[in-house]
Amino acid sequence: MHRIIIDGDPGHDDILAFLVALAHPEEIEILAYTTVVGNARVEDCSRNVLKVQDYFGIQIPVAQGYDQPLTRELHLAGQFHGPSGLDGAPFLIPSKRKVEGKHAIEYLKDILEKSEQKVEIVSMGPLTNIAMLIKTYPQVIDKIERLIMMGGCFSLGNALAKSEFNIFHDPEAAKIVFDSPLKIVMAGIESCFAGSILLKDIEELKPEGRATYLLKSILTFYSQYAYKNNWDRIPIFDVTPIMYLLKPEIFREEEYHVEVEIKGELTLGMTVCDQRGPVYLPVVENPKKVLMDCDREEFSREFFASFRRLDER
Ligand code: RIB
Ligand code: CA
Repeated sequence: MHRIIIDGDPGHDDILAFLVALAHPEEIEILAYTTVVGNARVEDCSRNVLKVQDYFGIQIPVAQGYDQPLTRELHLAGQFHGPSGLDGAPFLIPSKRKVEGKHAIEYLKDILEKSEQKVEIVSMGPLTNIAMLIKTYPQVIDKIERLIMMGGCFSLGNALAKSEFNIFHDPEAAKIVFDSPLKIVMAGIESCFAGSILLKDIEELKPEGRATYLLKSILTFYSQYAYKNNWDRIPIFDVTPIMYLLKPEIFREEEYHVEVEIKGELTLGMTVCDQRGPVYLPVVENPKKVLMDCDREEFSREFFASFRRLDER
């Protein structure tokens, strides 16, 4: 059983990832959801995950985190997610529930200190909350089994040529996390593109229940930029770390020493995956697992099957 905390900036793909995890209660127990600014303002991210929970009648605690990067200007991603951060599903009713009274890092600290077993953190947004958690309360690192994160890239960027949005949004936070003793699995852009969903599969999707109805609405909105760019598929980035939890065997992973660039002009936020062998690179203490590729068919099959499982709930 994976006992996880999700930290994200929902966000269409964040919500899809949350729902894929929810569809597998026999394998994944979600202890809490912490929100961070990224795709949208942090208040909107909290509102989005609360109204999706109401839609499914579930009550997983939501604790709200940072509303700004540690030092940088705010860059939201309204061009992909709309001003609300989850446009395209107007039938989702704003929740009457509130977020937890504590800040996300206080809430995380309490959960981790109280937990007898180690917990896996799955991050799907900028690393501001995670960085401030381990900086403020370094003792909790021992209670974190590993951080499985959507973020970074081996070589193909999106925010910049070599930088991925979640890292680029708060490079200083990412540097704190990557330089820490945390065990990290990095689901970078390459592995997310490898698991892309075909637009024709979205077009052919026939909703049979609440979950597939919501799925069709979310993907129809979220895939607009793919049509504009004449793509035949769309990456659903944040589903990747959850799919890795469920089916690690469909991924190809490699190990690298990874550091985050915080000074570059063209490379700000780059996750520098060091390919030098032992001849030129001193011993690497804490290499990161970098997901490089995956079986797209299997990824897509499991993705759609997860929503059919939620329909049957
Ligand atoms: O670069 C993709 C990442 O940025 C995803 O997590 C998406 O939700 C946005 O946060
Ligand atoms: Ca995200």
